[in-house]
Amino acid sequence: MAWVFSKKIAKRFGLERDVSNMNIKTSRRNALKVGTLAALSFGAYRSFAGPNDGSVSLRQSTLLSDAFEDGKYVLPKLPYDYNALEPLYEQRTLKIHHQKHHAGYVKGLNRTLEKLSQANQTRDYSSIKALSRALAFHGSGHILHCLFWHSMKPGGSKVPDELSDAMKRDFGSVSAARMQFAAAAKAVEASGWAIFAYEPIGGKLLVLQAEKHQNLSIWGVVPLMVCDVWEHAYYLQYANDRGAWVDNFMKLANWEFAQKRLSSARSKV
Ligand SMILES: [Fe+2]
Repeated sequence: MAWVFSKKIAKRFGLERDVSNMNIKTSRRNALKVGTLAALSFGAYRSFAGPNDGSVSLRQSTLLSDAFEDGKYVLPKLPYDYNALEPLYEQRTLKIHHQKHHAGYVKGLNRTLEKLSQANQTRDYSSIKALSRALAFHGSGHILHCLFWHSMKPGGSKVPDELSDAMKRDFGSVSAARMQFAAAAKAVEASGWAIFAYEPIGGKLLVLQAEKHQNLSIWGVVPLMVCDVWEHAYYLQYANDRGAWVDNFMKLANWEFAQKRLSSARSKV
């Protein structure tokens, strides 16, 4: 079975692998829209990417077109009425969830970005730890809730053929994929999420758990450049002086690589 997601996603990440033996069918490109978290999350990516420079709107193509407007994150409308999921998800619960909880993430995200902007203007990074935590908390909260609303549909839906093929390949069967997702959701420790995701290097579907969601990462962003500050990365040479390691990493930083990945992520529909 051709793995039609992989080439497109790999290119988007600047990690295009050899897919020459695969039967890439362009007619199936819309498979990106059927519900893998990674595919949907690209919509959020462009919001973080910065300027509205006229490039193709990834948000538009991934069902999150109303989550960011005029330079601000905004609370998107639900793709259905508040009572549309009853009785499985009652109106009162859904309304509070959307209007109070999701709205709180949006407000917090915009507020945190304003504070980070002030920090950058004043070069005062004394609150960077708290601000980074707030950014991850509110950013993931916003993106995951945007995905969550679209992850439900009145009456549910069948698994489309394209996704069904991928599930069979990566989980053994559609029912196994469904069962793993449900089991993961039930077993999340305390607060969190079950996440049906696409891993672009291996081109695989995965089920992940996210405990809480704010552990200093925003689900949905595309990494452009990273610095490893696990002790194994520097301890032999720098012992406990992580600061020296980071300072020297910054002298080695490959911003050209970051630019390539940014261009790749921005340029694809
Ligand atoms: Fe929630």
